Amino acid sequence: MQSSHSTAELRRLDRQHLWHPFTPMSLWNKSDPLVIVAAEGMHLIDSDGNRYLDGVSSLWCNVHGHRVPEIDQAIRAQLDRVAHSTLLGLACEPSILLADRLMKIVPRNLKKVFYSDAGATATEIAFKLAAQYWFNVGRPEKSEFVGFAEAYHGDTVGAMSIGRMPTFHRPYFPMLFKVRFSPSTYVYRSQTPDDPARVKEQCLASLRAILQEHGRKIAAVCIEPLVQGAGGMIIQPEGFLRAVREMTREHEVLLIADEVAVGFGRTGRMFACEHEGVEPDLMCAAKGITGGYLPLAATFATQQIFDAFLGDPSEGKTFYHGHTYTGNALACAAAMASLDLFEKRDLLNQVRQKSLALSQMLDRLKALPHVGDIRQKGFMVGIELVEEKATRKPFDPRLRIGAKVCQAVRKHGVILRPLGDVVVLMPPLAMEVSDLEKIMNAVNNEVAALKHD
Ligand SMILES: Cc1ncc(COP(=O)(O)O)c(C=O)c1O
Repeated sequence: MQSSHSTAELRRLDRQHLWHPFTPMSLWNKSDPLVIVAAEGMHLIDSDGNRYLDGVSSLWCNVHGHRVPEIDQAIRAQLDRVAHSTLLGLACEPSILLADRLMKIVPRNLKKVFYSDAGATATEIAFKLAAQYWFNVGRPEKSEFVGFAEAYHGDTVGAMSIGRMPTFHRPYFPMLFKVRFSPSTYVYRSQTPDDPARVKEQCLASLRAILQEHGRKIAAVCIEPLVQGAGGMIIQPEGFLRAVREMTREHEVLLIADEVAVGFGRTGRMFACEHEGVEPDLMCAAKGITGGYLPLAATFATQQIFDAFLGDPSEGKTFYHGHTYTGNALACAAAMASLDLFEKRDLLNQVRQKSLALSQMLDRLKALPHVGDIRQKGFMVGIELVEEKATRKPFDPRLRIGAKVCQAVRKHGVILRPLGDVVVLMPPLAMEVSDLEKIMNAVNNEVAALKHD
């Protein structure tokens, strides 16, 4: 499929006008970027007609592949009715019907959904709801937050405050609000990389100490359940999330589950919290909610939290927050079509089965000299590359080894995007084992080709 513009012309216009997200533009302007003009199933197609397997689900959101007839059709049908109408002062059919569907799949204690349009808005809303909840119930002193090291919750100010990543956020540190941080369960980079149970206990002890000392001032603990994605696919040992839930309850602190990356089937369950039977007080979802088609996000709350915002408007308990495209009708229609496909194709079961095949493929990488650690939960994979395996010595970041490997796999027809030197694999949940094999072979070849002397 060719574009009406030449690749050279598209690249020239891109360089002239665009500022790309999370991209060192000095390098970008010296590169010849792929220009995607179409897609089909698991493939993205560039302006020269080359096809690439979408190994990162177009930034972790695609679920069923691209140009899925059922979702395309649902959006077209909605277009014939209305593309968007505001939820401020009006209700709109698809947002109502989607809410009814969502309530059947989220943890049972969650009873209300507040829509927005990105992961960062979903988390920002959760933080504001948590703070205002305590304000409304007469405990305004509970206004502080606890986050985890290496966590990521988005790029708005609240999200950067609670998910503070020095590489991304250092220039903004002066404008971020105070947050107490508990260590993450980054077992591979801990003092005891062979003892996850010990790392888990140490991390829980840190959190316990924070809550014991400051719990009466803390509104909420925010966690990415099971996998800290953008931090490098850091996986929490079994029981960690459950213990965090118990501790927050004990100290009268709300638990916010940021399921933006792990939600909608990524870990083999619809929501990661389900693995440990955890019911958070607030839960954030985005990315996969529309199958990766359109921007939509959701923040879910308990009845108890919702009720604290009721009362006469003069009492000042209202949640004065909203976005123009909140609950967009086309996005809600896509989300419902995506949920239909989850059911029709028994997708969660498929993810669990294909994850086992994926683990076997990953096992083959273990012996490679520069593979330090492989972390996997369902369809979330991080392969941490190191200069020296025995000592876990990282590569010099200036070498940009992760980026180089991801660039190199393109010649095998695969798109990947790293997190530093962690090569990330986040395929659409519907990807077949044969395509997973192709991606893994490409990674295997290019990682094996790294010089190791
Ligand atoms: C856990 C988590 N929360 C929030 C976000 C932010 O989502 P968005 O990029 O849609 O704002 C991300 C994005 O990667 C994420 O992984």
